[in-house]
Amino acid sequence: MTAQVIDGKAFAAEVRGKVAEHVTRLKEKHDLVPGLAVVLVGEDPASQVYVRSKGKQTTEVGMKSVEHKLDADTSEADLLALIDKLNKDDSIHGILVQLPLPKHLNEDLVINSLDPAKDVDGFHISNVGLLGTGQKSMVPCTPLGCLMMLRHHHGSLSGMDAVVIGRSNIVGKPMAQLLLGDSCTVTIAHSRTKDLADVVRRADIVVAAVGRPEMVPGDWIKEGATVIDVGINRIEKDDGKTKLVGDVDYESCAKRAGAITPVPGGVGPMTIACLLANTLTAACRANGLDEPEGLTV
Ligand code: GUN
Repeated sequence: MTAQVIDGKAFAAEVRGKVAEHVTRLKEKHDLVPGLAVVLVGEDPASQVYVRSKGKQTTEVGMKSVEHKLDADTSEADLLALIDKLNKDDSIHGILVQLPLPKHLNEDLVINSLDPAKDVDGFHISNVGLLGTGQKSMVPCTPLGCLMMLRHHHGSLSGMDAVVIGRSNIVGKPMAQLLLGDSCTVTIAHSRTKDLADVVRRADIVVAAVGRPEMVPGDWIKEGATVIDVGINRIEKDDGKTKLVGDVDYESCAKRAGAITPVPGGVGPMTIACLLANTLTAACRANGLDEPEGLTV
């Protein structure tokens, strides 16, 4: 079998198109412009690239984009004061604090100081609890993007065996909750899982989110399974140049899978598209308006 390639880049463009249409309607009908504030502390090069890309795409769909770039030695009190100001600002519907934060800042404290209704990352403890109990919440962007692609490919996921490799708060755990919400039988595997190969071989859906380059070989994949690769790892090739690879070995997995997301061009573009979708959802909820269909769970 040669896998169908799930084109995250094209799908993300579709999602952004839907968001942009909805934003236009909000402006025309309600004089409402959704606003996203992104807070970056320090100068981590990868974070700077993400933040720039988020700002650009936010503006492109017609939303207001605000960036707050703070020095690496910003005090916790100053960061919390900024968040308090953004929480109270009616023109801001979504707030994202780029992670990781410098070591002297307590990430949990900072994230939990966000207004949960504006927590477009879905990391606030209230949103984690709401998702875990099947209630309306803000859903973390990367797992939301993965779920959208799975629903688009399969329609119903009900009864499927899903394995999530990785137990992070950002991807693994919320991904498992979403799959459970769609009535999959879910296994969360991680670095201490015994016989990982056997666990993965049973899965109709494999979501790999461990951050280890090409660690899942093709012979772990059940014939016809759907493989969602969340990994983005830069590795050095034999010629000294670098390239991006995922957490699965694409070549061998694509030979057995029914469908697979590539790296780059799979999950990655969906993450920012879902951030825009979440900001739109937050703006609609804050104003008592109907939520956009198909852009949230
Ligand atoms: N750093 C890496 N991924 C993310 C993300 O999804 N949200 C935030 N806020 N920071 C990140």
